[in-house]
Amino acid sequence: MSTKPPCILVIFGAAGDLTKRKLIPALYNLKQADLLADNFAVVGVARAEMNDEEFRRRLRDDMKEFATEEISEDLLNWLAERLHYLSGDFSDDQTFVRLKSRLGELDQERSAGGNYIFYLATAPQYFAPVVQKLGSAGLTNEDGHFRRVVIEKPFGSDLESAKTLNRDLMKVLLEDQIYRIDHYLGKETVQNILVFRFGNGIFEPIWNRRYIDSVQITAAEKVGVEQRGHYYEEAGALRDMCPNHLLQLVTLTAMEPPVSFKANAVRDEQVKVLHAIQCPPAEEAARRSVRGQYGAGVLDGDPVPAYRSEPNVAPDSNVETFVALKLLIDSWRWADVPFYLRTGKRLAARDTEIEITFKRAPFILFRDTPVDELTGNRLVLHIQPDEGVSLRLGAKIPGAILSIGAVDMDFDYEDYFGHVSSTGYERLLHDCMMGDATLFQRADQVEAGWAVVAPIQQAWAESAPTDFPNYVAGSWGPKAADELLEPGGQKWEETRHVSHRRK
Ligand code: BG6
Repeated sequence: MSTKPPCILVIFGAAGDLTKRKLIPALYNLKQADLLADNFAVVGVARAEMNDEEFRRRLRDDMKEFATEEISEDLLNWLAERLHYLSGDFSDDQTFVRLKSRLGELDQERSAGGNYIFYLATAPQYFAPVVQKLGSAGLTNEDGHFRRVVIEKPFGSDLESAKTLNRDLMKVLLEDQIYRIDHYLGKETVQNILVFRFGNGIFEPIWNRRYIDSVQITAAEKVGVEQRGHYYEEAGALRDMCPNHLLQLVTLTAMEPPVSFKANAVRDEQVKVLHAIQCPPAEEAARRSVRGQYGAGVLDGDPVPAYRSEPNVAPDSNVETFVALKLLIDSWRWADVPFYLRTGKRLAARDTEIEITFKRAPFILFRDTPVDELTGNRLVLHIQPDEGVSLRLGAKIPGAILSIGAVDMDFDYEDYFGHVSSTGYERLLHDCMMGDATLFQRADQVEAGWAVVAPIQQAWAESAPTDFPNYVAGSWGPKAADELLEPGGQKWEETRHVSHRRK
């Protein structure tokens, strides 16, 4: 099969941030990697009035602004001449009539084979209506060509709304035409979890409750809500990060080996993990979760405002900007191994990591020595920003008296593989062109993710927080997050940035 299928990518919401920051740079990188067909084109659709030339000029300027490397004029020209624009209201049927005729012309011009991808980079309330109008305009029928729809996040705001959205989409599309994006799956290091676990013979035999004591997953951000107050006031950290990004990391860490890398084989195993996560009654869910909101503080030496003083945030907002959770997976592999998750804005460092702590060795040999404690080995998958893997071992500190120190064996992606320019969307866009949905979420997967957080949503809806703001910007979140772990004898591990800074 060709790695460069001809197609036209239609981006709804093309005047927005995602298009300029991620999608166009990703297309540029794909061209650079020679993964776009000559018979490729983009049609941006948005309300703003613009012609093709203005759209091209705008994106050229944006590319220059956001590029981290030198841009090749040749490649940029190649892409720019394939960019087109159609201005229109998403709720107006006429927009879709005009889109259909424009696509027909471009398809002829470019010989794109009638293959269209509709990328919905719009506000979520447009997802279902746009798909319905695409269907009515006859743009979703696959007849000797493909018609695919990419849906951005957030996919619903709870289990019920996700089910409704799935139902609405499936009135028009077949499941294999729907590509639900979770951009975390575009990250190389997230994809590497599977290769790391299943492409190496040494980990699988010890990857279970017999050897693993606990798993911690941290997705810490230094940024606040930036200009997204409107959205965040509706979402909060739980909805924004947990049913999607964090649970992706959980499922890839915890899943059984799939029988192949085919989309459904991988997604079947991920869904099984989600179904095996205990969903306790709301009261117990509240005990296994902690929410926080940042107050004013100092980050990198600069004062930063409290969440409640951010633009478009209510001065008495009770929306959480931090979440910590304890999840228990009731499977033969994981029963009784706690999975601790935490994520938050305005934390002390930007670090996403998966830390696997192994059970410690028996102490008996060290009983009559000055060593008073053996700590467990720790394997850390550094997802971002410094991608890599490290393994903590105990080693004898040289000297006449027996003592043990912790040493880290570190592998850094960039040292080995060099720097690869990536927005995280290249692989996702290319997979969609190729019809490979492995890195996209299936309907049942999205719903199972919402089902995991449903008891927490219910518990939090029943009782408003009384102590917000309860952490200082630039800290590691509220104290209660530490208490979530302490009864189990664990504490949050330092992330790579913190331990590096200490050295
Ligand atoms: C998005 C969330 O999905 O993911 C943001 O809406 C969050 O709030 C972002 O900042 C984190 O992604 P990344 O790739 O920047 O770590």
